[in-house]
Amino acid sequence: MNRQYSRADDLVRQFDAVLRTLVPRAAQPSRPSPAAPELRDDAMSEPERRHAEGLMRINHTGEVCAQALYQGQGLTAKLPEIRGQMEAAAQEEIDHLAWCDARLQELDGHTSRLNPLFYAASFGIGAVAGAIGDRVSLGFVAATEEQVGRHLDAHMAELPPGDHRSRAVLRQMAIDEAHHAQQALEAGGARFPRPVKAGMTLMSKVMTKSVYKL
Ligand SMILES: [Fe+2]
Ligand SMILES: [Fe+2]
Repeated sequence: MNRQYSRADDLVRQFDAVLRTLVPRAAQPSRPSPAAPELRDDAMSEPERRHAEGLMRINHTGEVCAQALYQGQGLTAKLPEIRGQMEAAAQEEIDHLAWCDARLQELDGHTSRLNPLFYAASFGIGAVAGAIGDRVSLGFVAATEEQVGRHLDAHMAELPPGDHRSRAVLRQMAIDEAHHAQQALEAGGARFPRPVKAGMTLMSKVMTKSVYKL
């Protein structure tokens, strides 16, 4: 009896997590956005605003994928010693999601219509990696975070010069992601071979190209 209740609880929790990730404004951050109220942008032209919107939409979708990855992994991975650490990292990802969402609204932008698709794909990848084993799933976290870090660096350079508020958000995200990558490696994550990383890069190219506009 008990067991059935707990399985139903799990399902409700999963569903709740999906909604919090995919419904705009539903994610609750635990830290205030690095784009503090007193931080002002300089003037931006309309093409610049649109470019910033596209970049922040990519970052938002990246965080949707991070949520899905952690949730998929949570379903199958054991990770007994570092469960607490993983939960702390997942909470930081919720902050990122909420900050990007808020910044997109400030830019009069919308979140990507493709998010449910990327959520499903990342959830599946996380669940499979978790089922293969902890070393693989931690290695996957590390490789993903490193890739996200490279994107963030590129976006910080590419944002319009006047967009200080987006840049502040990305700067803190880059610090957090580097920490997540390091934690995953220290916890025993496998270093992935180059072909696997090349596959991941290809997938992220598909994501960034499509989400910039959609
Ligand atoms: Fe993140
Ligand atoms: Fe992260």
